Amino acid sequence: MTTVTVAASKKYDVIIGGGLLADAGQYIADVVSCRKAALVSDDTVFSLYGGTLQKSLALSGIEPITFIFPHGEYSKSLSVYGTLLGAMCDGGLSVSDAVIALGGGVAGDLAGFAAATYRRGTAFIQIPTTLLAAVDSSVGGKTGINLERGKNQAGAFYQPSLVLCDTDTLKTLPEREYKNGCAEIIKYAMIGGYGLFEELFDLPAHVQYEDVIAKCVAIKRDIVEKDERDTGIRRLLNFGHTVGHAIEVCSRYTVPHGEAVAVGMAVITSAAVRFGICSADVERALYEALGKYSLPRKTAFSAEVLAAAAMNDKKIRGDRLTLIVPEAIGRCAMTDIPKVELAEWLRAGGLK
Ligand SMILES: NC(=O)c1ccc[n+]([C@@H]2O[C@H](COP(=O)([O-])OP(=O)(O)OC[C@H]3O[C@@H](n4cnc5c(N)ncnc54)[C@H](O)[C@@H]3O)[C@@H](O)[C@H]2O)c1
Ligand SMILES: [Zn+2]
Repeated sequence: MTTVTVAASKKYDVIIGGGLLADAGQYIADVVSCRKAALVSDDTVFSLYGGTLQKSLALSGIEPITFIFPHGEYSKSLSVYGTLLGAMCDGGLSVSDAVIALGGGVAGDLAGFAAATYRRGTAFIQIPTTLLAAVDSSVGGKTGINLERGKNQAGAFYQPSLVLCDTDTLKTLPEREYKNGCAEIIKYAMIGGYGLFEELFDLPAHVQYEDVIAKCVAIKRDIVEKDERDTGIRRLLNFGHTVGHAIEVCSRYTVPHGEAVAVGMAVITSAAVRFGICSADVERALYEALGKYSLPRKTAFSAEVLAAAAMNDKKIRGDRLTLIVPEAIGRCAMTDIPKVELAEWLRAGGLK
């Protein structure tokens, strides 16, 4: 078992290891003295792990108000959020109780936003069950839902009181979800340090989950502690994402997030080599890592098409944008460019 402590506006532990779910009630009782807890999970995850969590909560004297939603991004909606708040009211959840997210980033973002806003804030516990949620969305306090007008258009920064990552739950993840998480892990290896990049070559991530997740969380912790509200250094976490989001949009979301981000990292790194910002060794190593995890580094979309799609990215303000560019393995810089130059970067990165 490994614990990473995050000292953001709230201090909390991220506990990572096998077999934690069966003791979740006790871990939760150690940080929140609650009588009830809203247990928020999608249908797939609940059928796999809901029973174990309910049993554990009961052993600690915590009564669950169970809320199950259909799996998938569409449930991160205003209507599901409204129904959840209603269920919390009907179940008699008080402000001294807690909200528990059991699942991937969708459960975490939805339950976190409900916790942030229910009677102006109830304690929030994250139990991530996807690799992406374990290394990314469960830590750092971003919560939210989608509106018809776009992703994450309503949200709040709201840190959890505890993140409990039971690595045994990751054993049932479909291959596609595993690869999504691996793309984010490679992103951390490129922006952070802790010897993560080398580690990904020694053994596949899935045979050393605890160590790899702990390192990713430590890298995110270091960044979030310096810039909790995403106005500066936290943008490093966006490496590969400007191009990645454009690919997701252009493919009408048929290219999964992780694969899109993998291409985004490859293109920007190749451009960085052409512009003399990093050595060809960095590009070679990244390509090798992506290959090892069966992640793509090419797309058929042209530089013009992707650059046009990227202009709608909500992270772009005014006529400039910040690209995250690798200088070495484990070190990236934030490079401010006029947004009209993005297509040139993408062509330098090998796109037509
Ligand atoms: N808050 C943040 O900082 C942050 C960061 C990155 C992404 N996100 C958000 O996270 C969401 C994506 O998260 P995700 O990829 O975890 O999606 P998800 O929550 O939809 O999970 C993906 C799929 O895996 C299934 N699943 C989950 N755990 C499983 C398990 N252990 N075994 C078998 N199946 C399992 C789910 O039922 C679902 O169908 C997006 O909405 C994204 O915007 C948030
Ligand atoms: Zn991502």
